[in-house]
Amino acid sequence: MKVDVLTLFPDMFYGVIGSSMMKRAQDQGFVTIDITNFREFSQDRHHTVDDYPFGGGAGMVLKPDPIFRAVESLTIDATTKPRVILLTPQGVPFTQEKALELAGEPRMIMICGHYEGYDERVREHLVTDEISIGDYVLTSGELAAMVVMDAVVRLIPGVLGNEESTDTDSFSHGLLEFPQYTRPRDFRGWCVPDILLSGHHKNIAEWRHEQALYRTYTRRPDMIEILELSLADQQRIRK
Ligand code: ADE
Repeated sequence: MKVDVLTLFPDMFYGVIGSSMMKRAQDQGFVTIDITNFREFSQDRHHTVDDYPFGGGAGMVLKPDPIFRAVESLTIDATTKPRVILLTPQGVPFTQEKALELAGEPRMIMICGHYEGYDERVREHLVTDEISIGDYVLTSGELAAMVVMDAVVRLIPGVLGNEESTDTDSFSHGLLEFPQYTRPRDFRGWCVPDILLSGHHKNIAEWRHEQALYRTYTRRPDMIEILELSLADQQRIRK
């Protein structure tokens, strides 16, 4: 996959893309990530990227021209249509399902704004997806772009080794992940549940499923509502 990020603050990205899973994914050739400052595509003397809103009002609006030019420069000889993603609190809420969908794409271009709004023509004529990472307002789309990039890149087949499988991830089967424990068995008097030490794989799987169900039911009842629970799971929840 090729990922391009358009931002006015490239430095915000280098720590994230130069560390951990993101670095490994690039080193092993699963993804190429390029960061571009779209101020370079502004054609006026001062490299302006924003202007006052027509109709008045507080704040500035990002001009369409530098953003269009930046995207066009990246896609000039593209053979496949990239997903052009705008990070905005007005976007569709980001989910694991959306991350999986994007992980199957050959190319993503992410556009990050800072403080300001975007000229509506960017939304109407350039962007394919508007994504929000949650119902709160950040000062920058950059943090949101990093969240989306991380969630997508780890799902590209091969990026995570077997030991870091995504199979038990929260959300991957519609439930939050079950509780996990490691050594020591007794930490300050708080002990690991006996069942996990029993070696009985079927009972352990059953316990984990019940725990995942309980955790989801108590913390995220909205997720349970949209699941089609088996009769057995409906009875477990009522217990
Ligand atoms: N930019 C500012 N807030 C945001 C949010 N919640 N999601 C995506 N982009 C944003």
